[in-house]
Amino acid sequence: MTAHLSSPFHLLCSRPGGEELLQQELEATYGIFSNIAAAGMVQLEGHHLPEDALIFEWQRLPHARFYPLQKGESVPEALTAAVWQFFGEQPSPWAVHQLAVEDEDTGGSSRLEGIVRELIRKGHQLHPGIKKWERKPEKLFKGNKGMILQCACTTKGFLFSVAAPDQLTSSVPGGRARMKMDSRAPSRSFLKIEEAFVRMAHEPQEDQTVIDLGAAPGGWSFAFAKRGCQVTSIDNGPLKIEDACIRRIEHLHRDGLTYQLAKLQPPVDWLVGDMLVPPGKVLGLLRYWVDGKHCRNLVMNIKLPQTNPLPALKPVLKWMERHPGLQVRQFYHDRREVTVFGKIAE
Ligand SMILES: C[S@@+](CC[C@H](N)C(=O)[O-])C[C@H]1O[C@@H](n2cnc3c(N)ncnc32)[C@H](O)[C@@H]1O
Repeated sequence: MTAHLSSPFHLLCSRPGGEELLQQELEATYGIFSNIAAAGMVQLEGHHLPEDALIFEWQRLPHARFYPLQKGESVPEALTAAVWQFFGEQPSPWAVHQLAVEDEDTGGSSRLEGIVRELIRKGHQLHPGIKKWERKPEKLFKGNKGMILQCACTTKGFLFSVAAPDQLTSSVPGGRARMKMDSRAPSRSFLKIEEAFVRMAHEPQEDQTVIDLGAAPGGWSFAFAKRGCQVTSIDNGPLKIEDACIRRIEHLHRDGLTYQLAKLQPPVDWLVGDMLVPPGKVLGLLRYWVDGKHCRNLVMNIKLPQTNPLPALKPVLKWMERHPGLQVRQFYHDRREVTVFGKIAE
């Protein structure tokens, strides 16, 4: 019945175009070779899936299966059976994440939606009990229970994986943590810091102190000021914030690489940085601000060099081994950059 179904394999999602970086990271860190399965999807060779999320990983599809499907072909019984057999005899709460595969002629998301609709309709016939176990994905991630069915369409067929929420590395489909733009924000960089707050599960609070290195035109500073924080924005360029919250911002025309707190000044609640400087310079900042315990929370963006980005990041990763509370990830809103973030241990 499942003659067309592939054997299981692990897939990791990255930003489309970032597959090679993810492949290099897999090989350099874990000795795992991989292939590009589709835009933004890397298929691991072998059966080892690293436990920790990789820097360039947005999401993972553990024990994924592939079913070849022609364009326009209706969903075969064998595929329905293959998908629902993973839920076993006992129904449990489940939800679907539909993953977009970019720049492939797959017929767009409407084809995937059609297939998923059909799968679910047939699933209801096959297992009359499963309908009442269908949930909103957020609910399952919140309680860490049930199963997430991840699905995607490629030009060659249909991909799916069934896994518990805690086996995944993001609670949003494909790890595409799209933030909502605020029309008052002066730059789209605003979305990056908003994503950092979500990933840290930790929002800045009113009256907290913030230092923003490389602040202009002011997207990050605005995100803090609109929440009532007291922000010091360091940049020689102009801030373009027109909102009244600008009164909470002090703009200093200084060099963010050498700016330091006055002697005996208490740590700031947030140190954030988004400067176009090489990773080695960022490491110097991390040493001063984090090792010196001059901040309580950190969000530091690192721009990747065009050539050999991984070796350039290595010293930062080595330094991070001493700071297990910090993470480094490529955000959905990051471009050729990664972000180090987290709470600093007291
Ligand atoms: C990507 S932009 C920052 C965008 C900002 N986070 C926002 O949300 O609008 C980088 C900024 O870093 C600033 N910059 C680069 N090197 C700097 C330095 N050594 N000191 C201070 N600012 C610097 C640039 O002037 C530029 O405004």
